[in-house]
Amino acid sequence: MTDYSQLNKPPALNLALPEESDAPALFALVQAERARLSKTLAWPPLIVRVEDSLANIRQNRLNFTTGRSATYIIRWNGKIAGIVGFNTFNGTEAEIGYWLGSEFEGRGVMSEAVRALMDWYINTGRLDTFILRCGVANKASNRVAQRLGFDFYYCQPRGEKIGDSYVDHNVYRWQVKEG
Ligand SMILES: CC(C)(COP(=O)(O)OP(=O)(O)OC[C@H]1O[C@@H](n2cnc3c(N)ncnc32)[C@H](O)[C@@H]1OP(=O)(O)O)[C@@H](O)C(=O)NCCC(=O)NCCS
Repeated sequence: MTDYSQLNKPPALNLALPEESDAPALFALVQAERARLSKTLAWPPLIVRVEDSLANIRQNRLNFTTGRSATYIIRWNGKIAGIVGFNTFNGTEAEIGYWLGSEFEGRGVMSEAVRALMDWYINTGRLDTFILRCGVANKASNRVAQRLGFDFYYCQPRGEKIGDSYVDHNVYRWQVKEG
């Protein structure tokens, strides 16, 4: 059976399931990036104590064990850079989610992390279709989808509530080509 707990992609990238011992470092990163992340993600305002990060990690690990989702810490040259993973699975289709600390933005880290994650699950025969959704105004995230060759699928009005307002989502799709 394939081990989906950790992936090394030399020279810099490592994806690993979060450990409970990662809670302080993850909490510190979210704290430092809270204002920035809260512009495009719904959950950062809810992370106010290290126990919240710990509870998330426990939930992530439980969801991984039960096959509901797969959340990975991105390490770049050994340093925690952010998170990437599958928020949901639906047969051989999965929905991708991600964020990076500002120190790691604009360097191709997320493009490489998402590509590595997709290749990992495709090459082991687990997945063949990927969904990526992001706010229509989230240029960096739309570019990640486009750079990775995702096709625009549809626009979902009021796709998510961020802070006090709803944002429309661009939904992208990528599927393994037949033959
Ligand atoms: C969305 C997010 C992950 C994108 O991060 P990012 O750094 O722009 O994405 P990448 O790691 O793919 O980097 C691409 C950028 O690095 C540059 N780059 C440098 N080297 C590169 C390389 N080898 N390969 C690809 N891009 C490279 C590119 O020029 C590109 O910049 P551009 O988009 O201005 O052209 C990040 O902005 C983020 O965390 N935002 C806040 C949270 C969020 O919105 N999450 C998504 C919710 S849907």
